[in-house]
Amino acid sequence: MTLSLVVRALFATLIGAQVSLVRAFDNTRYWGQNSYGAANSGDAANFQKPLAFYCQDDAIDVFPLAFLNVFFGTGGEPSINLANVCNPTDNATFSGTNLPNCASVGTDIKTCQSKGKIVTMSLGGATGSVGFSSDSQGETFADTVWNLFLGGTSSIRPFGDAVLDGVDLDIEGGTSTGYAAFVNRIRSHASGASKQYYVTAAPQCVYPDASLGGVLNAASFDAIYVQFYNNPCGLQAFDSASGWDFGLWDNWARTISPNPNVKVYVGAPASSTAAGTGYEPIGTLSSIAVQMRQSFPSFGGVMLWDASQAYANGRYDLAIKNALSAAGGTGFTFPACSAAYASGSTYTAGQQASYQGGHLWTAKWWTEGDTPGGSAGAWTDDGACASAGPKQDATSRPRVGSRFFRV
Ligand SMILES: *[C@@H]1O[C@H](CO)[C@@H](O)[C@H](O)[C@H]1NC(C)=O
Repeated sequence: MTLSLVVRALFATLIGAQVSLVRAFDNTRYWGQNSYGAANSGDAANFQKPLAFYCQDDAIDVFPLAFLNVFFGTGGEPSINLANVCNPTDNATFSGTNLPNCASVGTDIKTCQSKGKIVTMSLGGATGSVGFSSDSQGETFADTVWNLFLGGTSSIRPFGDAVLDGVDLDIEGGTSTGYAAFVNRIRSHASGASKQYYVTAAPQCVYPDASLGGVLNAASFDAIYVQFYNNPCGLQAFDSASGWDFGLWDNWARTISPNPNVKVYVGAPASSTAAGTGYEPIGTLSSIAVQMRQSFPSFGGVMLWDASQAYANGRYDLAIKNALSAAGGTGFTFPACSAAYASGSTYTAGQQASYQGGHLWTAKWWTEGDTPGGSAGAWTDDGACASAGPKQDATSRPRVGSRFFRV
């Protein structure tokens, strides 16, 4: 459930905003998920609109379509559910499968791509029936996804001849078996292709991610849309003692990720009904996003869950995009590092030390023996400093993404 702003081509920049399609009708299994319609069933005028509706201006850069929610369904083929826009109950399916034929979405995808948007297929979701039993099954499924949605060919392509720009993994259950093999196989197909493809993931903010932690360390991702909601480390914990952990993800991006230029997005709910916790007024989210941009070189942008919620909530997507644009700047510059943290020393409020992946930390109060990032919460992570690990592309422009969504 949930999700993100998006990433942008060149992966110079990503912004994530999720758009949501809402299933307002018959399937209560999907009811209550993060979409405007699910939370506001009487307001049909604001239910999720066709994808192209959300591509009319510059607010959103990336649209992960949510979701490919069944990997091995009827006939051994996957299924997708884009709520009221395309689903296997309301729409015709390909013979012998539960895969809806939604050619008109393909037209919208091409419309959005012609305006410079990136549109990807998001796999999983909170209620997805997903997972692999082996690496070879992950590789075979990568071939299927390549043929049905990306640069391959098949007689059962849900979006016709529209070629999506990549895949997003929003895996929220099951084991991590086979996912790294899946990503590597997608990469292998893409390496010989005539256009660029992107691979992203949407981990929970709790580090490391319960479902994909090892996969994120074993395969190359272009961006991650970290879900800073429905978790103790969510946006609501930004000012608390030890909740906010964007710094851990930044450190992961630059020192652990196989792709040291992977971008990290702040994933946020686009309204108070889009998630259980984590929603913040636009001024607060803007302030946090700008601070992350100034502090952490891996910051890529903001991901919102989801598009329908953002539109109904006073164009929350446009507001965050405008805030990032207004903050300006050509990119990140590393501040100088302070002396390294010394465990035997005492620190008073406001004193700084360098620690943990070359980050600058500031003591919140008098402290001794409490390591930066430790459970005592005695330190604020002010971000990367000059001696930090691999340097990210400093010229990226943050983008906002939206998740076009469903269930
Ligand atoms: C799928 O079915 C719904 C409900 O009938 C309809 O509104 C929608 O336009 C259909 N989608 C496509 C892509 O045909």
